[in-house]
Amino acid sequence: MREKILEVEKEAREDLARVDSAEELEAFRVAYLGKKGKIPELFRLFGEVPPGSRKEVGAEINRVKEWIESALKESRVSKPAQNREESLFDGTLPGIPPKIGSIHLLQQTIDEITSIYGKMGFEVVEGPEIETEFHNFTALNIPLNHPSRDAFDTFYTTDGQLLRSQTSTVQIRVMQSRKPPLKIVAPGRVYRPDTVDASHSFMFHQIEGLMVDDRVSFSDLKGVLHLFLRELFGSATRVRFRPHFFPFTEPSVEVDIQWGKGWLEILGAGSVDPNVFETVGYDKTRVKGFAFGLGVERIAMLRHGITDIRHFYENDLRFLRQFP
Ligand code: DAH
Repeated sequence: MREKILEVEKEAREDLARVDSAEELEAFRVAYLGKKGKIPELFRLFGEVPPGSRKEVGAEINRVKEWIESALKESRVSKPAQNREESLFDGTLPGIPPKIGSIHLLQQTIDEITSIYGKMGFEVVEGPEIETEFHNFTALNIPLNHPSRDAFDTFYTTDGQLLRSQTSTVQIRVMQSRKPPLKIVAPGRVYRPDTVDASHSFMFHQIEGLMVDDRVSFSDLKGVLHLFLRELFGSATRVRFRPHFFPFTEPSVEVDIQWGKGWLEILGAGSVDPNVFETVGYDKTRVKGFAFGLGVERIAMLRHGITDIRHFYENDLRFLRQFP
C-alpha cells in the first residue's frame, strides 16, 4: 500500500510538471481528485489495510491529497479568477452608462414658463420666502380683517414675520427697489397651512408676473396671457377671461383655458391697483401696470396627467424618472 501511495505521488509530480494551461490543470485535478481519480481510488483500497497500519497509511494518503490540493492552488496556470476575467472581457460591448440625475419636473415647468416670458422681455426675479406682513398683505392692499391673514391660512414665525403665502410679495420688493418700466416674473415657493391631500400641500410653487410702464393697458395683459397660454398648451388653446376680485388688482380676472368640453382655471390677473403703486411710492397718476399669478404644480399636473400633488415632493425615482 505504501508503495502504491508513493507511486501516485510520483506520477502526480510528473504530471503536474507537464501541465501548461488551465484546461490541463483541470484535467490533472479530475485525474487525481475527481470521483474516479487516483486519490479516491487509494481511499477505496484503504478498506483492505490491516487495522494496525491504518492510522499511518491514512495519514500518508492525506498528505499526498493535501499536497495536490495546494499544488493546484499555487500553480502558475491556475489563477482562475484572472482567466475568467480575460475570457469574458469584450472590448466591443457598449459601456455601462453612469446614472445622471435630471431636473425636477417642477423646475422644468418653471424653466419652461419663465423662458416663454423671457422671450417677451420679462426678467426672472426672486424674493425671500420668509417675509413681512407688509410685503405679503399690507402693501398688496389686503385689508387687516382679510381671512387670508388669519393664522389658519398663513404660517407666522414667532418673531412676527411669516412664510409668504404668495409670490405677489416680489412685486412689492421689486417696485420698492426700482423705477419703472418693469417686466418681471418671480417664481418660488409659497406656504399655506393646508391639510395635505391629493390636491393640497403646505408648500407649493407660484410664478408671479408684473409689468409696469406709463402706457400699459388691460389689452396688453390679454395679449401677453394669450400668447403665453398658447405657447404652453398649444396654439389652438382657447382662453377665457372671467371677472374676479383680487385686492391688489383692479379690475381683476381669473383666466381659464378650454379643456375637453369644459373650462379650467389657470391663473389670476388684473391691472395693478393704484393703491399698490401708492404704497411703493410710484406716482399712481403716471404709471400703469398689470400683474398675474399662477400655480406651478397645477400646470404641471394638467399637462402631464398627474393626479396627486404629493408625487412632486416624495422623491420617488419611479415618478421622477418619467420626466427626464
Ligand atoms: N396671489 C394670488 C394667489 O396666490 C394670485 C394672483 C392673482 C396674483 C391675481 C396676481 C394677480 O398678480 O393679479 O392666489
